Amino acid sequence: MTDIVYGGKVAIVTGAGGGLGRCHALTLAERGARVVVNDLGGNADGSGSGSSMADQVVKEIIAAGGEAVANYDSVSTSDGGEAIVQSAIDAFGGVDIVINNAGILRDKSFAKIEPADFDILIDVHLRGAFHVSQPAFKVMKANGFGRFVHTTSAAGLFGNFGQGNYAAAKTGLVGLSNVIAIEGAKANITSNVIAPIAKSRLTEDLLGPIADALQPELVTPLVAYLVSPDCQLTHEIFSVGGGRIARVFLGLTPGWFAGKGNQYTPEDVQANIEQIRDTADFVIPGSVMEETMALMQVLNG
Ligand code: NAI
Repeated sequence: MTDIVYGGKVAIVTGAGGGLGRCHALTLAERGARVVVNDLGGNADGSGSGSSMADQVVKEIIAAGGEAVANYDSVSTSDGGEAIVQSAIDAFGGVDIVINNAGILRDKSFAKIEPADFDILIDVHLRGAFHVSQPAFKVMKANGFGRFVHTTSAAGLFGNFGQGNYAAAKTGLVGLSNVIAIEGAKANITSNVIAPIAKSRLTEDLLGPIADALQPELVTPLVAYLVSPDCQLTHEIFSVGGGRIARVFLGLTPGWFAGKGNQYTPEDVQANIEQIRDTADFVIPGSVMEETMALMQVLNG
């Protein structure tokens, strides 16, 4: 086993002024990455802004002998995303690693979500990842190297009361990551997703007494591994928290087949619903092509 080090690779960590992002930034810098510490510096609901959060983390990195610069742009606009990538280029000459981590919450039950609460969640989490990742992807493609980690949530993957806006935005990231993984493969660009559980300002009130067992430091090692230069793992999703890491995946069941060319009825669906839903012998398609191939095999007997 070799030590995981970054040898001067340039990493952007969004929302790195606190919580998980701060921890990712400190760890990467400690292991030799040059880090852009991006943070808008506002409140947990997306209001406000300020420079002190990012500045503080940059100070910590430099005090520990690492290299970092602060960036205060919001990920939620295209100009902001461009500016974040530009600050990596200006300070360190490129970008090799992007950890999309910036996030906010505006929890409301589905019937009560205002359009503005929906829009801002999509803007920060989903559009934010797009705005930062696209200009970074172009640089990475030209260099033949890139590593992305996007931060989804179990609230999106599995559902959670009161988080319709958050869940929609977070699950959109899985689709984005899947396509970045496929389109980046030839250029040695990988893209993975984590669904963390950790104590932070977003969660400490929700987690109760278990919060202290869920420090952000117990999430970061997975992220550090996924973005490391020799890690080729791509196109996957992991649940991570409290020292446990597990894979999450979308599987395809063998299903039920009506027979080639046979019209089937709603009653046939009713009669076969358990077989359709039976998860035994599932496969995990790596692309829409692989899913279509699985259907072709059924059609061709
Ligand atoms: P946090 O609130 O400490 O970190 C989020 C950071 O993003 C903050 O420092 C904030 O200032 C920054 N930020 C917010 N909007 C921004 C914007 N427009 N541009 C740039 N920076 C912005 O909370 P935490 O828990 O560390 O969250 C990190 C990520 O992990 C978030 O995406 C969150 O949704 C996700 N997550 C966290 C979980 C947890 O258990 N803590 C569970 C599932 C997902």
